[in-house]
Amino acid sequence: MAYRITLLPGDGIGPEVTRATVTVLKATELEFEWVEYPDLGASALEKLGTPLPESILESIRETKVALKAPVATPVGTGFKSVNVQLRQKLDLYANVRPCKSLPGIPSRFKEVDLVIFRENTEGLYSGMETYDERHDIADSIARISRAGSERIIRFCFEYAQAHHRNPVTVVHKANILKLTSGMFLKIAREFSDQFPDVEFNDRIIDNMCMQLVINPQDYDCIVTTNLFGDILSDLSAGLVGGLGVVAGANIGDEYAVFEAVHGSAPDIAGQNLANPTALIRSAEMMLRHLGEMNAADAVANGLSEMYTEGKYLTADLGGSTGTMEFAEKLAERVAIHVE
Ligand code: NAI
Repeated sequence: MAYRITLLPGDGIGPEVTRATVTVLKATELEFEWVEYPDLGASALEKLGTPLPESILESIRETKVALKAPVATPVGTGFKSVNVQLRQKLDLYANVRPCKSLPGIPSRFKEVDLVIFRENTEGLYSGMETYDERHDIADSIARISRAGSERIIRFCFEYAQAHHRNPVTVVHKANILKLTSGMFLKIAREFSDQFPDVEFNDRIIDNMCMQLVINPQDYDCIVTTNLFGDILSDLSAGLVGGLGVVAGANIGDEYAVFEAVHGSAPDIAGQNLANPTALIRSAEMMLRHLGEMNAADAVANGLSEMYTEGKYLTADLGGSTGTMEFAEKLAERVAIHVE
């Protein structure tokens, strides 16, 4: 049986890292039927009159799973982020970002192994902004709901329990944002009582940023609201080699969209310079979500060997291997592991 997956190659370096990832997935010998939508964001707006065509949402509702490359969002003006819209419209409330050191990837720390659970649909990214022209004042509403907080916090605790991971750290700013962040912290404390076998602590966001750049090995599962999670997950990506190597997944109760953490990198687009590792690792998460553990392990082991060997590195990690060459070399290793 072939897996029907919605494929969104995005823009910038998106189509390059997508082609590389599909090449690696082919080596797993699983069958995929890719339902591809090349236009998302600016190109969809130009051709179809909307940055996020309804046909893409319908496709994900049907296939349940999408593999998505980055899409550029205009800064300050223009259309609303299609990433934020996708997460909100499909109710993909859990943004899961593992940040794990891989031997051979240059980074300041070794043995970092964090998973960040970022609430993905509300907080300061709720999309509720107003502008008072008369007084030249802009407001953003950071909505935190009990239901929205409970489901991401439960997701994190259940993951920690199932994978025997400790501690769970809730990150907040409840000293200042007493109602919004305060409620998130209060709910996390309530959940910690329901999961007595999972260690629990909390950190204020500014302290957490410092702690992570000094002692990242002290932390394991981190659960937090949308904006703090966005910042902490890029910070954590920096601890293990940068944006080119870190995976992400947006998961809801019904659908899941797997995507790299990085953006469309317009500065290197179309030059075969992009590191496809982040999207490949997102695809590995997708394989685990589909229950294809052997194929996922083959991809993980292949990547680990590639980096331990250190012969084929893309430009972001100081090498000169092109995007597709990296993918082809990895595919050879993955094929050996699935045999
Ligand atoms: P970016 O992640 O695109 O680039 C930041 C830096 O990292 C650049 O120097 C870039 O060359 C490098 N980089 C990123 N990915 C890389 C890779 N795979 N291999 C090698 N180098 C890589 O972030 P930036 O510049 O802030 O955003 C560019 C555009 O991407 C914006 O329009 C932004 O809205 C969009 N974006 C989209 C995301 C998504 O679709 N999920 C996530 C983040 C940003």
